[in-house]
Amino acid sequence: MSKQRIRLGLNIDHVATLRNARGEGRPDVLRAANSAVAAGADSITVHLREDRRHIKDADVVLLRRELTVPLNLEMAATEEMLEIACGLRPAFVCLVPENRLELTTEGGLDVAGQAARLTEYIAALRREGISVSLFVDADAGQIAASKAVGAQAIELHTGAYCRKPDTAGFARLAAAAEEAHALNLAVHAGHGIDYATAATLRDLPWLEEVNIGHFLMAEALFVGLPEAIRHMNCILNK
Ligand code: PXP
Repeated sequence: MSKQRIRLGLNIDHVATLRNARGEGRPDVLRAANSAVAAGADSITVHLREDRRHIKDADVVLLRRELTVPLNLEMAATEEMLEIACGLRPAFVCLVPENRLELTTEGGLDVAGQAARLTEYIAALRREGISVSLFVDADAGQIAASKAVGAQAIELHTGAYCRKPDTAGFARLAAAAEEAHALNLAVHAGHGIDYATAATLRDLPWLEEVNIGHFLMAEALFVGLPEAIRHMNCILNK
């Protein structure tokens, strides 16, 4: 049987970072998203952070209304974000840990350590028809907990592997992917992925989706966003 196509989700947070540097309208977040979709991006991801350092509430509202592909809203599991997500009802929510001082999401969510609260939280999102993934490290306990709290998917944190891609790191991610699949959780991956690591991560078992932001935005400066998306899709689905 042929391998299932791996979906490419583009995180466009840093289009907003650049826009906010001038506080005006350029570059336009929706235009960037639409150009990525035209080039083959399967979904658009935005992280609405508590401090609104890049994506703003109005961006999420606009994208939710205008996008022709699913919107994946990354967010911390706070009451404020629950209200926003339930109001907007994006196709997907990815719950991530958030720390005010971090430059980017540093580690996976501690699902096991807050299982009771997350069970209720995810149930509230599910009642709105939202599919929920949890951003976790490659850890069997966190994956079992993700199933127990009612998630539909896990997104494996690939940051450590992408900084230092080695066989042991790949084996840890592959074992985690097998565990998730055995529990009937969909397997996604994200953080720090570039062309080289995409070429190895594509061989993770059961991988359905990757979410990539910073590298594709950086690459877009040199080759344009559509070309960066097309090239990444070729690597993922060679
Ligand atoms: N997935 C999740 C859950 C993230 O928090 C991030 C970073 O915002 C990404 C994917 C994308 O990471 P990167 O920008 O390093 O590609």
